Amino acid sequence: MHVHVLGSAAGGGFPQWNCNCPLCAGVRTGRIRATARTQSSLAVSDDGGRWALINASPDIRAQIDGFPRLNPGTPARASAIAAVVLMDSQIDHTTGLLSLREGRELAVHCTEQVRQDLTTGFPVLSMLGHYTTVTVHPIPIDGDAAFTVAGLPHLRFTAIPLTSKAPPYSPHRHDPHRGDNIGLRIVDTRSGARLFYAPGLGAFDDTVRAEVATADCVLLDGTCWHDDDMARAGVGGKLARAMGHLPQAGPGGMLAELAAYPRPRKILIHINNTNPILDEDSRERRELAEAGIEVAFDGQEMSL
Ligand code: MLT
Ligand code: MN
Ligand code: ZN
Repeated sequence: MHVHVLGSAAGGGFPQWNCNCPLCAGVRTGRIRATARTQSSLAVSDDGGRWALINASPDIRAQIDGFPRLNPGTPARASAIAAVVLMDSQIDHTTGLLSLREGRELAVHCTEQVRQDLTTGFPVLSMLGHYTTVTVHPIPIDGDAAFTVAGLPHLRFTAIPLTSKAPPYSPHRHDPHRGDNIGLRIVDTRSGARLFYAPGLGAFDDTVRAEVATADCVLLDGTCWHDDDMARAGVGGKLARAMGHLPQAGPGGMLAELAAYPRPRKILIHINNTNPILDEDSRERRELAEAGIEVAFDGQEMSL
């Protein structure tokens, strides 16, 4: 299985267009050791020929440009993108669909809850139907039902419903439904290699723990270090947990949870621009390194 990190930041990216917090200002001016990041998305493939995009970020155009394997070069209009698989209906994970309207067809895999959001509150799927042929493939969320993506015959995908948050525009924001947010188990049926991807993860439950325990590599929610990162950075009062993101620090946080699982390679993704781990010289980044946890970066590649 080939995995390419197209984007590793949370909504807004790093630096964020209107943000002058110490991290955004620091990366802009080069005052801190940090790397700019686009909004979170992965490309996965079984043979490196055809790829599934996991989420379609607002930065998709630059992300495709920066990863030439997504463009086969011939015929005159062509793409190596076989489909887009959505984890939720958040703006930072779906707005990129609008930039795929020039294709002849667009295959989108999503849960029924996400399909509802994307045909009502943010009707991007309905709009795209006027530009291209959109095929929506329902993602099963009951039991252990797996699905496949046409063009990637050796990968088997399984949705893991998560405790997280639907987007602010969704009628489910304060009325959670199973399928509002999922994580994804991806297994290569040739090698048995197993990836678990969950860029929005509000809480660990037994299902999530079982995924982490059995995966070879996990790419997990790295949005915030403390619940109140944003207040600490002086950019507002939104709390990580209220937005459906489990903070890394403290009792019951991501680090405490991950400490129980020696097996998988552990990588944080969907990093908010206020998270101190973005500063490579920070105490928090050192703490992660000591715990054997990596921070995803744009362009990162993995072979599983
Ligand atoms: C989130 O992950 O909580 C959202 O992407 C936030 C946002 O849309 O800005
Ligand atoms: Mn997000
Ligand atoms: Zn910032």
